[in-house]
Amino acid sequence: MARIAVIPGDGIGPEVVAVALRVLDALRDGAPDLEVELDTFPYGSDHYRRTGSLMDADGLERLAGYDAILFGAVGDREIPDHVTLWGLRLAIVQGFDQAICLRPARLFPGVRGPLAGRGPDDVDVVIVRENTEGEYSGAGGFSHRGLRNEVAVQTSVYTREAVERTARFAFELARSRPAKQLASVTKSNASLHASVLWDEVVADVAGDFPDVEWSSALVDAAAARLVLDPASFDVLVASNLHGDVLSDLTGALAGSLGMAPSANLCLDGSRPSMYEPVHGSAFDLVGRGVANPIGAVLSLAMMLEDLGHQAAAARVRGAVEDVCARGILTADVGGSASTDDVADALVAAVSSQTLEVAS
Ligand code: IPM
Ligand code: MN
Repeated sequence: MARIAVIPGDGIGPEVVAVALRVLDALRDGAPDLEVELDTFPYGSDHYRRTGSLMDADGLERLAGYDAILFGAVGDREIPDHVTLWGLRLAIVQGFDQAICLRPARLFPGVRGPLAGRGPDDVDVVIVRENTEGEYSGAGGFSHRGLRNEVAVQTSVYTREAVERTARFAFELARSRPAKQLASVTKSNASLHASVLWDEVVADVAGDFPDVEWSSALVDAAAARLVLDPASFDVLVASNLHGDVLSDLTGALAGSLGMAPSANLCLDGSRPSMYEPVHGSAFDLVGRGVANPIGAVLSLAMMLEDLGHQAAAARVRGAVEDVCARGILTADVGGSASTDDVADALVAAVSSQTLEVAS
């Protein structure tokens, strides 16, 4: 039995996680072998207001015993972002050495993408984002605080070990996909240490994957090419910050950031991986019943797959495809459905697949 920690968190996190949990319930109705135990943790900004910290002092120890974490969002209008993010999301990512952030983006039939003349065949990419180092290493500091010559230093740190495990994961993923193509994204013309090490390590790892066609791309050029010719990409591997920026772009190419799922993976399985929609708190949407739940629901599918429930994950994806094809979409993807409308349709689609399987 898989044990799952649920952290709905802030903003629209609770609204979209509730939909993912409804879909999970519907799946379990027709699949008795899908045994999961859920525990919900009230971590986030309200916890901070009540107790002075985003999670319990022993929060990481408590979460460490779970098989996976389903996460909503963190971020609050009244609390600085670096406090909320480092207090919860980044504390988990770094504390559990979730080495890779996997961010697939597909334009589903029925969803209108933002690019004229491009359709579902053009947008099917996965970003493999290094998740623990680089620009997010936390290294740096201030000096001369408050003076005119105040200085902030933010150090981008890359280790051979982190680049290598990221590259290896990306090549393995590319190898498993029909196109077998990988673009390694850097900024080697300007970042003459971190990006150069990155390029060297990726070239070394490439030697073990002669069946994968790979190339190196500069991040600025890659951004332009994603817009002009998204079909020319398959898997992209990038540093923490470059992967972050490009994954908002690929989310938009899939119709909306609201469609984008992600998985923060602890590669050796010694601690839980964490699954979350990419969109974040989205303050402007909170409480209006219009949040797009699909990013959270596709994150659930990624979690089920990693927990070994491939058939259940396929049913979730099938339900998402079905609902998109029928145009039951929230406003961010051009529809007029509410969060609940999409949830109802997803639950019905998952349940009807159960009937098909049973009959
Ligand atoms: C994301 C977010 C986070 C990140 C922020 C909120 C720290 O932008 O998950 O993409 O950059 O990792
Ligand atoms: Mn981001």
